[in-house]
Amino acid sequence: MAGTKQTVLNFLEKNRGRYLSGEAIAEKLGLSRNSVWKAIESLRRDGYRIEAISRRGYSLSGESDVLSVSGISSFLSSDIDNSKIVLYDDLESTSKTAKGMASTGAGHGTVVISKHQSLGSGRKNRSFFSPEGGIYMSIVLDPSHLPFSNTALITSYTAVSICKSLEKLANVTPSIKWINDIFLGRKKICGILTESGADFETGEIQWIVVGIGINFAINEKDFPPELREKAGSLFIPGEEIISKNHLIAEILNRLLSPSKAKTISQTSILNSYKKRLNMLDMTVNVIQKDGITYEAVATDIDENGKLMIKLPDNSIKTLSSEEISITFN
Ligand code: BTN
Repeated sequence: MAGTKQTVLNFLEKNRGRYLSGEAIAEKLGLSRNSVWKAIESLRRDGYRIEAISRRGYSLSGESDVLSVSGISSFLSSDIDNSKIVLYDDLESTSKTAKGMASTGAGHGTVVISKHQSLGSGRKNRSFFSPEGGIYMSIVLDPSHLPFSNTALITSYTAVSICKSLEKLANVTPSIKWINDIFLGRKKICGILTESGADFETGEIQWIVVGIGINFAINEKDFPPELREKAGSLFIPGEEIISKNHLIAEILNRLLSPSKAKTISQTSILNSYKKRLNMLDMTVNVIQKDGITYEAVATDIDENGKLMIKLPDNSIKTLSSEEISITFN
């Protein structure tokens, strides 16, 4: 997006819902009134709802939620390179595209976003329902650029970053279901899928792709029947209090901004993760790979983010990839 247009958009985003005259915007931004007007017309053509009221001026409508790299950039830390963010209207899967890009050299901080996915994938080869109204993004990470050394913690770190972003912007209290699900109340509103590529000879992890799917504003009636009981949406469509662009930027700021954290203590990641876990000290149902299930009490998270459970004979077991189901009373 051309400089003036981006500058005007940034300004309107920061003042979303407030009316400002063309003259005031021009003066604040050091632009001519004509270039502000041209930028506003061009933004409208891109789909931004910018209201104009005579004698009050312009305002970016609270309902204007056009997913765009420029909209994301207005909330992005200045040390994040927005030229590495690519946005599609439709993809099979952002993670599939991001993995292809990572394996052909796309570096740390490459972000693939799509407004819709036709083949969104979840853990254990499950599909991830991905209609318009959600956030679907995959981020390429280089382990050597992470602010901590234990790559096993990447899913926990991502879950905590998403929770903190939701707490700050959406004024909600999300919880985490081990290992990769974020809940609001009793319903899952977000899933995380972490995948990696290693050097065949050395086994060294070369890239990690973290895929994030958030049911941002999806009508719960639109979920397929088998998901309706379990899946929820952050907002009811039409009642969003923040834009998708803002939430995406907030998550990227936490995951990618190098100046924010040169090093992050692994203990603090684990503490933040545990604090939000919705299953500690609860009896959970463990579902093994072979489908056999058994009950145990979730007691703790170990230093690699794995779930520790207490079996009926009081012995402790560490789970790594088993499925857990919990029943809320
Ligand atoms: C899960 O719930 O098991 C994880 C779901 C992860 C979904 C996201 S959406 C963006 C990215 N692209 C995909 O195909 N999957 C992840």
